[in-house]
Parts: sequence; structure tokens; C-alpha cells
Amino acid sequence: MEQFIMKGGTPLHGEVVIGGAKNAALGIIAGALLTDEDVIIENLPDVRDINVMLEALKEIGAVVERIDRHTAKISAVGVTSVSIDDEYIRKIRASYYFIGALLGKHHMADVPLPGGCAIGSRPIDQHIKGFRALGAKVEIRNGCVQAAASEGLHSSHIYLDVVSVGATINIMLAAVLAEGRTIIENVAKEPHIVDVANFLNSMGANIKGAGTNEIRIRGVKELSGTEYSIIPDQIEAGTFMMAAAATGGNILIKNVIPKHLEAISSKLTEIGATVEEYDDAVRVIGDREKRLGATQIKTQPYPGFPTDMQPQMAITLGLSEGTSVITENIFENRFKYVDELMRMGANIKVEGNMAIITGVDHYSGASVVAPDLRAGAALVIAGLAAEGFTVVEDIKYIQRGYERFEEKLRALGGKIEIVETEKDIMKFKLKVS
Ligand code: UD1
Repeated sequence: MEQFIMKGGTPLHGEVVIGGAKNAALGIIAGALLTDEDVIIENLPDVRDINVMLEALKEIGAVVERIDRHTAKISAVGVTSVSIDDEYIRKIRASYYFIGALLGKHHMADVPLPGGCAIGSRPIDQHIKGFRALGAKVEIRNGCVQAAASEGLHSSHIYLDVVSVGATINIMLAAVLAEGRTIIENVAKEPHIVDVANFLNSMGANIKGAGTNEIRIRGVKELSGTEYSIIPDQIEAGTFMMAAAATGGNILIKNVIPKHLEAISSKLTEIGATVEEYDDAVRVIGDREKRLGATQIKTQPYPGFPTDMQPQMAITLGLSEGTSVITENIFENRFKYVDELMRMGANIKVEGNMAIITGVDHYSGASVVAPDLRAGAALVIAGLAAEGFTVVEDIKYIQRGYERFEEKLRALGGKIEIVETEKDIMKFKLKVS
């Protein structure tokens, strides 16, 4: 079993280049099913979830060619099946995008109910509501979502009961080829929603309003091929911003869209870190000598503070002076890392959807387990900020969403390696002591 081992206490310094947005890429890969022509996707992150999605495309007859590490060419003309099922796809959340895309193009889909990180109950009722409104019959049978629209999909006016990233993208995927004009209200506004809409529009779709509360789609008869480059990953960027703040370092984070990071930048500034914004980069400077301050955070849909940055922010606040409160409004089970962090000396009390964090002046290294993707990354930052050695187990979660995480951290001066055995751990300890 691979684990991260690190020796903390070194402020991270230098430059890091951010990859393409995983959550945009997941929708875009499924969107490639909507045309018979070639789709070239650039700036694809080389992470596990993306590779599982590409493998799943191959399973149903698409041809996927990896032009280079971050570029893939997809041809879906040979798709022969609308039924996706392998043990890997069951484990990832974004498998649900195949329902929207297959339903849109082939009017049928049979896809396992999505897995993903266990951060909450994560229902998909709003996705299903959207598909039904577009004229599909949808049933859950044997753990699969089976959807069919024998007479094709038609336009609809859909009001989402909850603001959902997944439902917004999925309904868009289904509606772009549906007949007539579809309106989706109370949609999510995350940057990756806009990116998926831009991608579909580059194929000839007619989507307006992405990034606002209401998306309007005029269905088109067919979509063409495209060549599209994915936006930078807001959460990967935010994670390195927290790495700079929590270790008291100074990192220039390149290839980002600073506007997408505003909620994170403004909280870091509020607690006393320095955030400098450039055209396509941000620099975050923590202060090794002076502790950062406390604040209140409430996770919200974009442009609010992202739930996917909540654990990383908590790591930083855990070392700040004073008492901070984080309210988690999106997922009910997103404080599972707290017990692990307490083992490193943090002082956090969880009450319902609130974490009350009383800052301590240092963490000390311990053996901890990554409970999910973002919390896993957060524990790595904690380990790099901590005194002594930290081992993070179950790093498979982290590898789902962070490309070459340890290499990027090492280039910033982080003492971190992937190890598998006790002997590797000993070797690392000898090397860095
Ligand atoms: C996506 C992201 C995830 C991020 C989350 C919120 C992907 C693959 N994952 O997850 O990283 O944390 O957005 O930014 O892009 N809900 C329902 N019914 C539904 C759908 C959602 O009640 O049909 C609820 C969820 O339980 C949650 C809230 O709506 O409380 C938001 O969920 P949603 O935005 O859909 O998250 P995901 O698409 O699962």
C-alpha cells in the first residue's frame, strides 16, 4: 500500500504550475460522446479519476488516443453500447455524466449509481428530475440508473431544488441535442460549469447563461468535433495557496485564473497572509515568525467559499491564533479528517455541521489516514507544516485528484516521498535526518 511520508517544518518556497480542472474534465470527457467527430481535449489532468473515465469510454467502443500526458483525442463514432459497468467506474462520482451524455446522444443509458468520496449521502435526485423533465423514463435497478427516451428528448423548464454542480452539468449534457428550448433555473455557477458549457458551444451547441442562475439551451440537431483546452483547477491552486500559508512559505502559483480563487484569496488576506494577484498567477506568502489570525468560514456554492477547500483551510486555521468556526453547508460528512488532525495536536471540536477550531502553535507528526480526496491533501499540508515525521495512509484518494502531488511539493522544498514498506520509511528517515 502506498503512503506518503514527510518531514515537516520547512516553509515551502518556489513556483508551482497548476493543471487542468479535474471536475471540468470529467464533464467534458463525457461530452465527447455527443458527437461522431473527433474531439481533442487539452490540459487534461493526469489523475486517476480522469483515467478511469477515459477507460470507460473505451469499454463502450470509443477510441481514445493519448496524444501526450495532458492531451487526448476521442472518437465516439464507434460507440456500440449504452451500458457502462466496470469495478472502477462504480467508484467514481462523475460516472453519472455518462447518463446525461448517452441519453442525449443515444436516448438510452445504463450506468451504475455513482460512488466517489464518502463525504455525505450525495443523492442524484436532481439529475433524475432533470432527465425526466426532458422526457426520459428513469429507473434504478440493480444498483444502476437505467434511462430511456424512446421518442427522443424534448425541451423543458427545470427548476433545481438544490444548487448542484453535477445535476447542472448532467442536464446540460442531456439537453444540448434535445428538441426545442430548455431552461434550467437555480443552477450551479462554478467555473467548471462555464467550462463545460464553453466546450459544448465549441462543438456547436447553443447554451447561454452558464455562470449565472439560469441556463438556456436551444437544442441543435448534431454536434461537431472540437479542440478544447480545459481551464486551470481552482482547487489544486487553492490547495497550494494553503500550503504556502500553513507552512509560512512563499509560493508563486502559476497557470490559474485569479478570479476563480477570490473566495480563498480574501479569506487568506483576512487572516493576515499576503496574496498577490497577477494575470495568470497568484503568490501567497505566509509569515513564519507571526501566526495568522482566526476567521469564520461558511462553505457555499460558487462564488462562496468552496466545500472542496474546507479541510485545507481548517489545517491553516488550526495553526492560527484565536478561535475560528467553519460551517459546512454542502456535505454532512466532511469533518472526518478532524480526528486525524487531532492526533497531530490540533484542537478542534465538531458540533453538527460546525467545527470550532482553537489554533495551536504547532502540529506534531503522526500516522494518519486520508479519509477522502481533499481531506487527504489537507493532511499532507498538515504533515509538511508539522514538527517531525508524518505518514499519510490511503493516498489512493489523493491520487484521484492531484497530479504528481508529491513531486510538486518536493520542488517547493517539501520533504515528502511515496513509500510502501517499513524499510522505505526507515530509508527516508535516515536520508532527511
Ligand atoms: C461536485 C464535485 C465535488 C464538489 C461538489 C460541490 C465533481 C465530480 N464533484 O460534486 O468535488 O465538492 O460538486 O462543489 O464535480 N444534491 C442533492 N441532489 C442531487 C444532487 C446534489 O440533494 O441530485 C446535494 C448534495 O447532497 C450536496 C449538494 O446538493 O449537498 C451539492 O452537491 P453537488 O453540487 O451535486 O455535488 P457533486 O456534483 O456531487
